[in-house]
Amino acid sequence: MAFADRVAGKGLRAAPNASLRGRTKVPGDKSISHRAVVLGAMAHGETRIEGLLEAQDVLASVEAMRGFGASMERIGAGGYVIDGQGGLQEPSGVIDCGNAGTGVRLIMGAAAGFPLAATFTGDASLRGRPMDRILSPLSLMGTRWIARAGGYLPLTLHGGRLRAIDYAPPQPSAQVKSAVLLAGLNADGQTSVIEALATRDHTERMLAAFGARVEVEDAGPGRTVRIEGGQKLMGANIRVPGDPSSAAFPLVAALITGNSEVTVEGVLLNPSRTGLFETLREMGAKIEIANLREEGGERVGDITARSARLRGVTAPPERAPSMIDEYPILAVAAAFAEGTTIMRGIGELRVKESDRIARMAAGLAACGVDAREETDGLVIVGAGNGNRTVPGGALTASGGDHRIAMAFLVLGLGAGEPVAVDEAGMIATSFPDFSELLGRLGARIEPD
Ligand code: S3P
Repeated sequence: MAFADRVAGKGLRAAPNASLRGRTKVPGDKSISHRAVVLGAMAHGETRIEGLLEAQDVLASVEAMRGFGASMERIGAGGYVIDGQGGLQEPSGVIDCGNAGTGVRLIMGAAAGFPLAATFTGDASLRGRPMDRILSPLSLMGTRWIARAGGYLPLTLHGGRLRAIDYAPPQPSAQVKSAVLLAGLNADGQTSVIEALATRDHTERMLAAFGARVEVEDAGPGRTVRIEGGQKLMGANIRVPGDPSSAAFPLVAALITGNSEVTVEGVLLNPSRTGLFETLREMGAKIEIANLREEGGERVGDITARSARLRGVTAPPERAPSMIDEYPILAVAAAFAEGTTIMRGIGELRVKESDRIARMAAGLAACGVDAREETDGLVIVGAGNGNRTVPGGALTASGGDHRIAMAFLVLGLGAGEPVAVDEAGMIATSFPDFSELLGRLGARIEPD
């Protein structure tokens, strides 16, 4: 049975909380984990990974790369050794990427460069998400494919013999950039991706760590990345830092509950991922970063958040790529702020694990918050200052989306009445010990 089917229907409830206090660590970064697994499988020689996120999304990528013939040995919690064969073999079965958009899109790009046929699928959510954004550039490179109408999964790719392209993705997307670069690695000539707004740069960085020459040219908010085809990747040692997208939940929980102070240690602070922290500071949040250091080529630090009086802000649309997964939890912070928070230029949220604009607007309204949905935006009138001002007392629908579920549980910690989430099992796709970790800080999140 697919993971999504096993966990569907499992509800959780968060009770209003007096205070949250303590130091903690969140699991490894999801984006970096997917890339470590995919690049390690494509490389020659041994790759050792420390701190891999062992959540369903990444474990699906591990299984997928095993399907392409890679040997991946687990040597302890978060520890993996990959014996890279320098290429991908044709899988004999279907590659099931579960709920993971990043996994399937990166792996399709990687697979396109090899002479093989591969059939991809995923859970119901992933089968409803657009793959044409990957299929369009891969078609230009010479990949043949057959998919459901509209380019949806399940689909089959025929890879190999690619030509290089210069590609400007119509939407800012690190997944699209990464798929094109990974295909470009095995194309004839130089491939470039021209981004109008730069997105997270983990693929560029990790390709370099695996010995590839990658040229990066920053131009204002945009960026061009070039890669020469025919390069070999060599195995590398990768240490995965804590995921800022997961750290966001306990940190915002501290902001919206009284008498709270929470520190999350060892969080990735790559500037292409820190838009939420910048925005929360503009809202008046007390967020401190200590012990700033470099680990495995990435900036890492310990982040502390304390109870705060927040005010509404306008989140600049050009900041969206650096906080694209954080809008649900930003919406929760906005619900507790004084004044209006305006988020625009976020149409991409409609094609994430769920339609996140619609899910947040509906759940916030159920919790007594004035939230207005726009085609590519969300406007929230904050309930006032500090905790207990948001009524809560509602059952919210996660739409099977891990980040929607976590956002509403955090909201429940600061609200006047408990907040339940109908389906919370999918939290295991990115943050398996979410409830326990918040529990250790003093939160009460229980089965509903
Ligand atoms: C990711 C990129 C983002 C993000 C996703 C992870 C990545 O998606 O939402 O959770 O690891 O490259 P898009 O690139 O489609 O915006």
